[in-house]
Amino acid sequence: MIITCDKCKTRFQFDIRLIKKTLFKVRCSKCKHIFSVDTQPKEEVYELRNPHIDTEKKIIAVCNHKGGVAKTSTVLNLGASLSLSGKRILLIDFDVQANLSLLLGQKNSASFYEIIQKETDILAAIKNIQPNLYLLPSNTKMALLAKRCLQQKYFGYVLRNALEPIKDSFDTILIDTPPSIKFFTPNALIAADFVIIPTQSEFLSMNGVLQTENIIKALSKLHPLNYKILMTLFDEKDTASKVIYSKLKKKYADKIFNTMISLDPKMRESQIINKPVMSYDSQAISALQYQALAKEIELM
Ligand SMILES: Nc1ncnc2c1ncn2[C@@H]1O[C@H](COP(=O)(O)OP(=O)(O)OP(=O)(O)O)[C@@H](O)[C@H]1O
Ligand SMILES: [Mg+2]
Repeated sequence: MIITCDKCKTRFQFDIRLIKKTLFKVRCSKCKHIFSVDTQPKEEVYELRNPHIDTEKKIIAVCNHKGGVAKTSTVLNLGASLSLSGKRILLIDFDVQANLSLLLGQKNSASFYEIIQKETDILAAIKNIQPNLYLLPSNTKMALLAKRCLQQKYFGYVLRNALEPIKDSFDTILIDTPPSIKFFTPNALIAADFVIIPTQSEFLSMNGVLQTENIIKALSKLHPLNYKILMTLFDEKDTASKVIYSKLKKKYADKIFNTMISLDPKMRESQIINKPVMSYDSQAISALQYQALAKEIELM
């Protein structure tokens, strides 16, 4: 687990298997301060947020009810872009399809399901993919998660509660969600501070944006959330794409990111070698656009 010194805030990797007690004292090797560490799982907390829109963007859910709009590609490439500035970024594959894990070459790794089953600790399940970039993988057992957790009274808070003890170990957490509105998406939204809704510039894609907005609105009394729409897979040569984009811009105005992501063959090529596009070709148009998106989010 990661422990943080109360005084100088230095973080240390600590193997709790070395200690038999759940509550013990340690001395910080940097500032020599002695502080207590409690490894006992915390009581589940279900407090409501302040009734104002949260301006923090620490935990970002990437959601759209429609499939194939580049949710997974956005989590991977935005995460990789954010990590370039030295921030610690955690990507969470919260989708039974496990596409994000597959894209990063993580097959059959322990997932959130094993964490909930207490078969593994959350920090043990998190993989370090490249410097500053971490992944909590998914696997096929995630399909059992909804069934198992739906019996719990606060099943919408399962992800949020699991992230509570580790969220301070990361600067940003990005959650990939499936193209459905059951269990996974509400859990991701309740865990999140901010939502990105990726969408193609296509007539039918509008419906996916509306559905996602409706879920955000339905949750808003309990958990107010800010969101922005990201245009993805944009084809500049396609007239319909340009017309729909200008309509969306009129309707949503500043709810649309200034940065858009173009249809770029380099993206698919990068996925063959299990890499974010900027590690495959740092000058690819989509690589530059995801870096621009990272900057836009940092400045928001
Ligand atoms: N900028 C891009 N240019 C070209 N192809 C892209 C781009 N972004 C994503 N793709 C491709 O589009 C397809 C869908 O992308 P992705 O899997 O990220 O969508 P998704 O919304 O996560 O899908 P699902 O709803 O099934 O989870 C993939 O084949 C991916 O390689
Ligand atoms: Mg996906």
